[in-house]
Amino acid sequence: MKDKPITMADFRAFKGQRKLAMITAYDYTSARIADEAGVDCILVGDSLGMVMLGREDTVSVTLDEMIHHCKAVKRGVRNAFLVADMPFMTYETTCRDALENAARLFRESGVRAVKLEGGMAILPQVRALVDAGIPVMGHIGLTPQRIAQLGGFKVQGKLAEAAIHILEEAMQLEKAGCFAIVLEAVPAPLAEAATKALRIPTIGIGAGSGCDGQVLVLHDMLGLYQDFTPRFVKQYAQLGAAMKQAVREYVSEVRDGSFPTDAHSFAMAPQEIEKVHAFLAEQNVRENEQE
Ligand code: KIV
Repeated sequence: MKDKPITMADFRAFKGQRKLAMITAYDYTSARIADEAGVDCILVGDSLGMVMLGREDTVSVTLDEMIHHCKAVKRGVRNAFLVADMPFMTYETTCRDALENAARLFRESGVRAVKLEGGMAILPQVRALVDAGIPVMGHIGLTPQRIAQLGGFKVQGKLAEAAIHILEEAMQLEKAGCFAIVLEAVPAPLAEAATKALRIPTIGIGAGSGCDGQVLVLHDMLGLYQDFTPRFVKQYAQLGAAMKQAVREYVSEVRDGSFPTDAHSFAMAPQEIEKVHAFLAEQNVRENEQE
């Protein structure tokens, strides 16, 4: 199929026309599969701290770790729009930090946009990045980098006051220049209201069907990550169970000798084998003579 790379302009153009499908990826192979399956956008999420590195949350992910994974993902992507998370404390501090760290992520890994978690407190950083030519995707509602403050992975904006605050954040992020906003774990009516109020697309995760697009963590939707499955995840496959079964069969076949067979082995011409045997026989004679 002919390549047709998704651009930032497509995000705005698709709003109201067709839904955007976004997924996370953290390595070359899975990025290539997702890209060939036709996703619009691949996110190298800092969720890699949990699903790839086995940590309890996303807070300890570093910029170097993000760059390492983004470089691998970039090699597998041809058409999808590639976005990377800015890790915790690489942008909250100052606009200068945000610019320097985003520039590194951009230059060293080749991603096309960054995602920042947060609302009013990071508006200056969003403006600074956009002014410098770095596209920014917002992320509000449940923001896992602030898990200590939020007191756990909980639905946000259930009461009107909190919901209105999230709406205000969304509108301010749009004004600051975000090209799209992720809404995580918020009630569906709130996500729908935000989607109607904004000109830029909303990408929901645990935010109902009223958003302009959806995002899921690849390892969650494939049934690979088994520590915890949020209620909003739909498992499209049980690859974790399939992998375990495959590895069990391998272990058993190695132990009982049924793997490898001739089909998995390389042959040698009889005259060449004879020479090898002759060499070994000669070695034996020499060893015997020395004794
Ligand atoms: O890190 C991540 O994977 C994310 C998505 C859940 C949106 O931020």
